[in-house]
Amino acid sequence: MSRKKIAIIGASGYTGGELLRWALMHPEIEVSQITSERFAGQAATKLNPNLRGFTSLSFVPVKALSTDIDAVFICTPHKAAAPYVKQFWETGAKIIDLSADFRIHDKDTYAKYYQEHPAPELLDKSVYGIPELHREEIKGAKLVACAGCLATSVILALAPLVKSKLIATDGIIADAKIGSAAAGASYDISTHHPERSGSVRSYKPHGHRHTAEIEQELSAIAGAPISVGLTPHAIEMVRGIMSTVHARVSPELKDVDVWKAYRSFYAGSPFIRLVKDQGTLYRYPEPKPVVGTNFADIGFEIDPEKKRIILMSAIDNLVKGSGGQALQCFNLMNGFDEKMGLWSPGFHPL
Ligand SMILES: NC(=O)c1ccc[n+]([C@@H]2O[C@H](COP(=O)([O-])OP(=O)(O)OC[C@H]3O[C@@H](n4cnc5c(N)ncnc54)[C@H](OP(=O)(O)O)[C@@H]3O)[C@@H](O)[C@H]2O)c1
Repeated sequence: MSRKKIAIIGASGYTGGELLRWALMHPEIEVSQITSERFAGQAATKLNPNLRGFTSLSFVPVKALSTDIDAVFICTPHKAAAPYVKQFWETGAKIIDLSADFRIHDKDTYAKYYQEHPAPELLDKSVYGIPELHREEIKGAKLVACAGCLATSVILALAPLVKSKLIATDGIIADAKIGSAAAGASYDISTHHPERSGSVRSYKPHGHRHTAEIEQELSAIAGAPISVGLTPHAIEMVRGIMSTVHARVSPELKDVDVWKAYRSFYAGSPFIRLVKDQGTLYRYPEPKPVVGTNFADIGFEIDPEKKRIILMSAIDNLVKGSGGQALQCFNLMNGFDEKMGLWSPGFHPL
């Protein structure tokens, strides 16, 4: 069988570049085209020096894209993605959109957090792209809307406990630390090195856009509305997210109940690692061991005195938070092992 031909729209950005790195190493993928308007005609390795020796591809403008492909990955900003989803909808290509355009099923919620939806008629056609939640639906999907990076880290920490009804469904707070690559490859004053370096900056204490998808997914699992307050901080790190989530629990809750909930929810989910190891320096999840990997490391501690549980969730925003998770979805959509081309540990030390 020949390899699946894929195109990446928006390959000059950080998610597109990371996806390209993984796709070039995937045994069942042939990357046929990568797009950029600004860098059309230039070699991919001009922007991705890590790929020297692995590809001779050059960027093409979107108008030069062939529809003779098996799958298209869209790595553009939201709003820019929807027209490409429409363009490829009838071609038979599987569509994996890394933007926010098709994550939110309700058009009014999308409008509240983003803008008027550019293609509302396709909203109910997409499957939300977290395989650990929607593995079977993703297998049959034509359009997968990959989850946001912050949303992935928060949802993966909470979903099993929501499903097992171990936490109160209101008053959940997610405090996240996030690296600068989350802002994309284009820059402004907020990402300028002297401004960003050494800073710990709260940039959206409430009302962050990923709140919409977090509440959508967790409410669906709970079968009732779930409210989550999300407060991200930009910190001195390039890749990685560390989310610390606080929820109210019964003082009777025991570690074993939480272990059981995680183990049963994530049975058959190879990219989830439960981390709670008192005998080591690395007793809880942290971003460094997952950087450059598709793993989500999740840990917890119960505070019976305060009747709360503290969940810790670490991912690489460019891998499990975008390019890697997109490829994990692609694997499922094509009947491949979901680990294919993604099974790799990170670095230590880093
Ligand atoms: N960065 C993350 O950690 C992360 C994680 C999860 C999801 N995401 C989502 O992934 C998407 C890409 O993010 P990013 O961080 O990779 O952004 P980025 O580094 O700024 O890259 C954006 C890419 O989109 C292209 N582009 C912009 N407007 C376009 C248009 N109208 N038509 C075609 N191409 C267009 C740009 O190409 P040109 O060279 O032509 O300008 C560039 O390749 C966003 O929707 C973002 O929210 C990002």
